[in-house]
Amino acid sequence: MKRLVYLSLAFLLLLSSLRVASFAERVGSSITPSSLRCEYLVSPLAIDTREPRLSWMIESNVRGARQTAYQIIVSGTAAKTAANEGDLWDTGKVASSQTIQIAYQGRPLNSLQQCFWKVRTWDQNNKPSSWSKPAQWTMGLMESSDWSAQWIGDKLASVENVSAAMLRRTFKLAVKVKRAIIYASALGVYELRINGRRVGDQVLAPEFTDYHTRTQYQAYDVTSLLRSGDNAVGALLGDGWYAGKIGLAQSLVKKPRNIYGNHPRLIAQLEIELANGKTERVVTDGSWRTTREGPIRSADILDGEAYDARREMAGWDEPRFDDKAWEGADVAAAISTKLVAQPNEPIRVRREITPIAVNEPKPGVYVFDMGQNMVGWCRLRGQGPAGTTVRLRHAEMLNGDGTIYADNLRGAKQTDTYTLRGGGNEIFEPHFTYHGFRYVEVTGLQSKPQLDALTGRVFHSAMTETGSFECSEPMLNKLWQNILWTQRGNMLGIPTDCPQRDERLGWMGDIQIFVGTGIFNMDMAAFFTKWMRDVRDAQAEDGRFADFSPHPFGKDKIFTGVPGWGDAGIVVPWHVWQQYGDKRMLAENFDAGKRWVEFIRRNNPDLLWKNKRGNDYGDWLNSDTLIYEAFPRKGGAVSKEIFATMMFAYATDLLSRMAAVLGKDDEAREYAALFADIKAAFNKAYTNEDGRIDGDTQAGYALALYFDLLPEQMRASAVKHMLEGIARYNGHMSTGFHSTYRMMLELTRAGHNDVAYQLIKTHTFPSWGYSIENGATTIWERWDGYVKGRGFQNKGMNSFNHYAIGAVGEWMYRVILGINNDEEHPAYEHFILRPYPGGGLNWAKGFYNSIRGKIESSWSVADGKLNFDVTIPANATATVYVPAKDAVSVTESRKPASAAAGVQFLRMENGAAVFRVQSGKYSFEAR
Ligand code: BGC
Repeated sequence: MKRLVYLSLAFLLLLSSLRVASFAERVGSSITPSSLRCEYLVSPLAIDTREPRLSWMIESNVRGARQTAYQIIVSGTAAKTAANEGDLWDTGKVASSQTIQIAYQGRPLNSLQQCFWKVRTWDQNNKPSSWSKPAQWTMGLMESSDWSAQWIGDKLASVENVSAAMLRRTFKLAVKVKRAIIYASALGVYELRINGRRVGDQVLAPEFTDYHTRTQYQAYDVTSLLRSGDNAVGALLGDGWYAGKIGLAQSLVKKPRNIYGNHPRLIAQLEIELANGKTERVVTDGSWRTTREGPIRSADILDGEAYDARREMAGWDEPRFDDKAWEGADVAAAISTKLVAQPNEPIRVRREITPIAVNEPKPGVYVFDMGQNMVGWCRLRGQGPAGTTVRLRHAEMLNGDGTIYADNLRGAKQTDTYTLRGGGNEIFEPHFTYHGFRYVEVTGLQSKPQLDALTGRVFHSAMTETGSFECSEPMLNKLWQNILWTQRGNMLGIPTDCPQRDERLGWMGDIQIFVGTGIFNMDMAAFFTKWMRDVRDAQAEDGRFADFSPHPFGKDKIFTGVPGWGDAGIVVPWHVWQQYGDKRMLAENFDAGKRWVEFIRRNNPDLLWKNKRGNDYGDWLNSDTLIYEAFPRKGGAVSKEIFATMMFAYATDLLSRMAAVLGKDDEAREYAALFADIKAAFNKAYTNEDGRIDGDTQAGYALALYFDLLPEQMRASAVKHMLEGIARYNGHMSTGFHSTYRMMLELTRAGHNDVAYQLIKTHTFPSWGYSIENGATTIWERWDGYVKGRGFQNKGMNSFNHYAIGAVGEWMYRVILGINNDEEHPAYEHFILRPYPGGGLNWAKGFYNSIRGKIESSWSVADGKLNFDVTIPANATATVYVPAKDAVSVTESRKPASAAAGVQFLRMENGAAVFRVQSGKYSFEAR
């Protein structure tokens, strides 16, 4: 009895002490860790880096909340994580404010290993938080020897209009499944099915890479699809980029298709843990059955898909199906590609669009208007007699008579056909193609369709959208939406130039220009991790970066080494470092970047980039290429040699900064010196005494200012000449792809924000507003792609979904919202909030979800009063510029700002009171 009393007393004591501890933890700590990710992904299933990097965000509603320490535990089972047992890794309490890019340093990890983890954090008062919700990651197949699956397909060579292969096999499982992951990939594109159900929701897996070098595999958790007893696994296999058409192939290598190979192949390995503790493995091999008699009669990325529903084989992906009529699969001899885990978010359907109108411009020809230029495909609903073929043609624009305008698609057919099986409602959705379109011409229907007969299915790399922008000027809101839609339409495993015509390549110049905007709009860290591998795979032996990556057409010979295009090999990693603090990105790309800079130096000993400029596109699509009605305005383009030399300088400057971050001090010094030398050569060769740059173009000044190529005392005169250049074009731009947004940023930096606002707000030609007045719902390749009353620009090159001149989105974030990273403190550990109210705007608001949490900026002006509300994520600080005549007239939450908690007045600067602000929410007011 006594024992019992003691025991229960002890138990009560224990309980109360636990209670006290957890209570203290809960009220004591002002911060909570959340949003746990591994290698930028939420609970990824296939990690093939041995030191995966972990990150979390800190949440708090207390001003000035900071993390001063953390503890991570990683365990082999969920039970162990729950019991705080870090058998794989327990960091103990680490004094650190770091919340991102923390590389795993625990016990070595094996292929297929499941890792459970959680984190707790200590705040500025050394109070621990509770443990985070647990998260997990699973290691992939890290060694090629982990693969016992074989590459399978059939003997039929892939030619135009060949049907897609179907493959299947059955297997038995003795008992229930505890956990099952299937790893799969294709040379081609594939969809998997298990027991009658689709596996995953990936579109166009395994995505576009240089398949000769590297092919991505995907992992899917299929535990819930398997059962004890009979099972079936099946796959659809299409040509994709591997064997189907690729943009520009016809003109560059005189064959439109089969660029990587003639035989699409599938590989799949199903790893099963059974409830009885045993494991099973099912792999692709000669035991699989295959046929080409299925419903996908042809499927091509550029041309579209033909589907005959009469050929559907009910139950083909179920165990009971009789596959006697199918053939044995063909096993490929050695395939030399390297299989790697897909590091980026897969392409997925992200939203649906219902058409806004359907018209009948000709009898029986129905044209649906999606109301938005989009990328993906349509789901069609309908009914009719068996054998009726419905045809869907996709286009971005209409002709004057209401029929679709398809001339700008060049060799891409973008046409799907669906042949009805008959006898009821039918639904069709393609598998292995994609289209860029706003309008869909539907023919073959018996009667006028309802609006809901079509649904636009919008897909792209499923990156999280991280930005938002709104202001009092509707045209600017439309512009911002158009930029975002253009980004959605061009991020499909690679950043493409356009999604519609027979091109759709990873053009390096375009993303070099757009990257700054792109990474505000979406979390692109994982996407660029994947694509920078494509860039390195496409680099020529002599150091030239390709014009587009992947480069399927002979990377050492053609379409390589162009100023402003190749430089993406350096510019993109630098942005990823700045935005996400990703040092590995710099480490992985430094040598490639160095080879690029050395290629240029080697061929241009006087440091002016005169030799070896490949296709030399220059400041592409500048005003000299526009159609002016009233009078020709030529001479707006900066010379290609000057442009090239400036890009050489910029790449060298960034390379030296990369070296400094990586602790490569000698190289940092060497390339800083080279940058200084290029600068000197540039000024000697192209700059005159009166501060003019040869050619006297807007672009010349904008780029020289942006790349910091001018001696300090010449900057003012360069700005003056740039303004004169704008005046010569009646207050318009003569700039091209590379210089347009950079001129906007330089105008603001030089204090001519009024001119920048005027350029972005104008509706006259050439301008963003002009395209919007002419109906743009995305960014166009050319300002005058279509003009009411005049019609279309040159059909050979007239995309209506091209993000390059949408790079002005960066200016909208940096200047209108005022959200700016601080180069000295990457990944928003510290940042700058500096909006420039102007341009007649009454208010603007928006946010950027940084890797440390949400940054918000919202301002309004009325009755001579400015309100400015900001949010600084926990564990970060900001320098905040409040436009004001002096510090005294600024309040924060109605108290004098300098006396507010978390706010410290620093100085007055160019009409703004500058404060250092701790994390939290603040409301400034200036009178
Ligand atoms: C693409 C561009 C690309 C260019 C090179 C075009 O066909 O669409 O955006 O950068 O070629 O000049």
